[in-house]
This record gives sequence, structure tokens and C-alpha cells, in this order.
Amino acid sequence: MTSLPPPFQPPVRTLMGPGPSDVSPRVLEALARPTIGHLDPRFVAMMDEVKGLLQYAFQTRNELTMPVSAPGSAGMETCFVNLVEPGDEVIVCINGVFGGRMKENVERCGGTAVVVEDEWGRAVDPDKVKAALAAHPQAKILAFVHAETSTGARSDAEALCRLAREHECLTIVDTVTSLGGIPVLVDQWGADAVYSGTQKCLSCVPGLSPVTFSDRARAAVERRKTPVQSWFLDLNLVLGYWGSGAKRTYHHTAPVNALYALHEALRLLREEGLEAAWARHERHHQALRAGLEAMGLELVVPAAERLPQLNAVRVPEGVDEAAVRAALLDEFDLEIGAGLGALAGKVWRIGLMGHSCNRRNVLLCLGALESVLGRMGAPIEVGAALPAAMAVLDG
Ligand SMILES: Cc1ncc(COP(=O)(O)O)c(C=O)c1O
Repeated sequence: MTSLPPPFQPPVRTLMGPGPSDVSPRVLEALARPTIGHLDPRFVAMMDEVKGLLQYAFQTRNELTMPVSAPGSAGMETCFVNLVEPGDEVIVCINGVFGGRMKENVERCGGTAVVVEDEWGRAVDPDKVKAALAAHPQAKILAFVHAETSTGARSDAEALCRLAREHECLTIVDTVTSLGGIPVLVDQWGADAVYSGTQKCLSCVPGLSPVTFSDRARAAVERRKTPVQSWFLDLNLVLGYWGSGAKRTYHHTAPVNALYALHEALRLLREEGLEAAWARHERHHQALRAGLEAMGLELVVPAAERLPQLNAVRVPEGVDEAAVRAALLDEFDLEIGAGLGALAGKVWRIGLMGHSCNRRNVLLCLGALESVLGRMGAPIEVGAALPAAMAVLDG
């Protein structure tokens, strides 16, 4: 037998990658409170508060609004496995990694994916979607990613949902990276099945996936001809526990402490207010952008399609991108992300999400990047980034 390992003590990092983001001490403190039973009346009362706070975060009155007990990928699967039946046609927009995963989900549910492709680093083009909807009148669902974390591109969710409604199509919308960072207006958009994650702009611990279903989406689940192939994610069963009835019945053992953490993270968002949180993300993004550009670095996504909370930065010619990330981690305890898929090796992804989105982090990141890139002899302007960022923050 191997010897007893010591208790795990994680280093204190600053998380400025694509998620998880820094978690507030208030959320960590909530996580450490005593575990109680998942059917304890006090816990059940807290679950109702979580649902109400999630309705606020999603800007919806949807009754079916709750956290799935697993990470964002499970929220994605919840939407697909409940809404897609064998033989269904689904229009899937792909402009990065996560649209590709949506296509996989459709196919694994026995559906047919009609792919609308856009360049990585660009928003989904509504004109292409309009053409696909016209060419496929049988399509049941339009699926797209609002905030493509692999590239930092933001798509016009309101326009895409409007197009879908005009064609009597349901929508599945990925808001994993958008919720809490930019407007997610589920009722105003008329979106149908929307999922998110806790570890991005909500700044909660990873491992939960808020979802919300419109009445239309719920009716489509009830009309299914075939049972949902996933037992764990079948909403008809999950709702015995999370539904609105007075009696909650056992479905699975809820992650009790993680839900305390989500409750506190959502309280923090409610305290700050959504509009203030969106404005904070935009202000710090503009400061980071100004600093990066002053250094001579370039953002991948055109200005009008950029996400404030995920900044994809082109790696300058001749620079070893992995060595830069390693130096930031070793010397500054600062995590930024690598490129994914088609952008692997070509970009860094700098997150400004939730609790990580603050003045100190913007300045730390710019100063640390400048120091590491300068030492490596990268072609950057030294000394310009911090004044440029501070001019935005203090201007
Ligand atoms: C846009 C998007 N969708 C889905 C996911 C999957 O979420 P998770 O990693 O929590 O399963 C992610 C995670 O980064 C994401 O960014």
C-alpha cells in the first residue's frame, strides 16, 4: 500500500482562463456549511430560492428553471435528449468547438443535424440561418451557442430566436459563458431550452448546470413518442424532485453543498444587479483590450462581435504560446487559457468572468504578459499597456 498522501492544498491562483473563474470567499464559505439531507424541509425551501434566483439570472418566468446536478455539458445533454427524438431534424450552428458538440448530441439522439457553418472567431450569420430554415421546413429545433468560449465570439441570440419562431422551430441556446456576463434575456428572446454553467460568469464552483425550459419546450417533451434515453437527465423524472409540487420525491442525491454555493453566488449577482454586472464586464474588457492593443497584440474577433468576458488574443509570430502560459502560472500564479480546436497554438484565451473581472486582475494580466513576452524577445511595445488600461478604468 502507498503511504498516506498529505492533505491537498491548492496554490492560490488568479483564474483568467475560459473557466473556472475565481470564486468569491462568500461562496466558498457557503460550500463549507454543514451538509443536511436533500429532502430536509430547510433544504427544499432553499431549492425554491435557487429557482427564483435563477429565474432572475435568466430573466424568465419559466416555471421549469433549475440547476442540473452536473456541469455545463449535462445541461447541454438535458436539452438535446429531452427535445430530440429519432428522426428529428435539427439546425445546428457551428462557429467553434461547442457548436460541434451540439451536432454530436443531435446525432447521438438519433436526429439529423443540418449544419450552418461560420468561421471560427465570427458570430453566427443570421442570413445563413434564415436560408437553412427556409430550406428545411421540417426542422424541429434551431440550436446555437450564444457565447462561443473557444473563440470569444458573441452571436445575436435575439435575432436567431426570432427567426426560429417565424418558422415554428424550437430553440436550444448555450449560455454557459454568457449568463451573468452579458444580457441573457430568455423571455424577451422567446428562447425555449437554455442551459448554462456555474463556473464562468456566475463564479460558483464547477459542477452544476442551470437550465430553463419554456412552456412550449416543456409541451414538446410531454408530447414525445419515445422515452428519453437518458434516465438521469429525463426531465419527466427529475421534476419529481425539482418540480413545483408540494411533495418532493427522491430522484438522485442532490449535490447539497454545491447548491449552497450556487445559492450564495446567485445572491451575489442579485445584490450587484444584472445591469451592473454586465457593465462591469464591459468596462474591464475595454481596459484589457486597450492594454493589449497598446502592447501591439491583436484580438481575434471583430469589435462588434466580441464577448467582454472571453478575449481571444493572437499569439505573435515566433512566440511559444505554451511557454508563455507556463511562465504566467509559475511566476505570477496567473492562469490564462490556450486555444482550442482550429485555434489551438494560435491564440490565448483571457477570461474576465464574474469574480475574476476586476481592476486588479486586468492590471496583473497586462503587467505579467508584458514581462514574460518582453523577456522572450517578442515584438511588443513595453511600458504602454498599463497606462492605456488605466486611462479606460479611470477615464
Ligand atoms: C460554450 C460552452 N458550452 C458548454 C460547455 C461545457 O461545460 P462543462 O465544461 O461545464 O461541462 C462549456 C465549457 O467550457 C462552454 O464554454
